[in-house]
Amino acid sequence: MKRLVIDTDPGVDDAEAIMMASVHPDASIEALTVVGGNVPLENTVPNTLKILDVLGEEAPVFAGSPGPLVSLPDEDAAFVHGSDGLGDAGLPASTRKVEEEHAANALVRLANENPGELSLIAIGPLTNVALATRLDPELPQKYKELIIMGGAVYAQGNTVNTTAEFNIFFDPEAAYVVFDAWPELTMISWEATMSHAIGPDQLKLLKNNDNPRGIFFDAISAKIIKFIKEVMGRDELFGADPLAMAVALEPDIVTKMAKHHVHVERFGGASRGQTIVDWNNRTGKEPNANIVLDVDMERFFDLFHAAVR
Ligand code: RIB
Ligand code: CA
Repeated sequence: MKRLVIDTDPGVDDAEAIMMASVHPDASIEALTVVGGNVPLENTVPNTLKILDVLGEEAPVFAGSPGPLVSLPDEDAAFVHGSDGLGDAGLPASTRKVEEEHAANALVRLANENPGELSLIAIGPLTNVALATRLDPELPQKYKELIIMGGAVYAQGNTVNTTAEFNIFFDPEAAYVVFDAWPELTMISWEATMSHAIGPDQLKLLKNNDNPRGIFFDAISAKIIKFIKEVMGRDELFGADPLAMAVALEPDIVTKMAKHHVHVERFGGASRGQTIVDWNNRTGKEPNANIVLDVDMERFFDLFHAAVR
């Protein structure tokens, strides 16, 4: 059984990833720690509670950092995910309550209560994970693994700093702390997301499934599907967080991976938030990232499809 702690900034694709974990027979969601990112924390926390309502999940939810460690970028991702972060679908508020404990403290406590047992998957900016790593420097040795959706390994990002991917760009200092302190994280990049896009025929299968999860998916994803079609001219869906979750749930779907040192650029103007990969091992620095390059697309889609059908 894969015991998951999910650090998240829901976020439409975060919701899809959480649904994938919830329906997977060999996974349990132990806790969710929430961070500001796609939209502010005052939206990402209630969104997480709403997602658990749809799923009937009882996992505890911990609110974390409202913003980056140092400076807030000029824009978040509301233009993609909707101002509420769930496609402006107008879903009813949850009556669930968030835990009192701060997410960073929860990440430390959970690791110390379950040494070597928990898989941490971070699908938002890394602020909570960085804070927890500073609170307990032995954290990387206490989690079974860290899988992140983040980074652009060929400098093809998705933010105004075109070489930077959103989760890293939103908090480069936090990402720097995590990449520097965790010796072997698994990294699912924006380029991997784009090269494993859900195509038109597959997208049709994700829609119009008459069950609470399928109806929820239709409601929250309509805006992002429209955005991709109208702005990017593509009848596809980019499942960044779902791809990271698929790798976490079934690591053997990865068909190509490379271990290299990844540096997070904090100071450049146009390059702030860039994840610079030492592809030729020229820096002499130890590899700190297992970079996922290719996965079995059919199996990825099956895991995504299972979340809504
Ligand atoms: O760049 C994609 C990532 O940024 C995803 O995690 C998405 O939810 C946003 O947080
Ligand atoms: Ca996310």
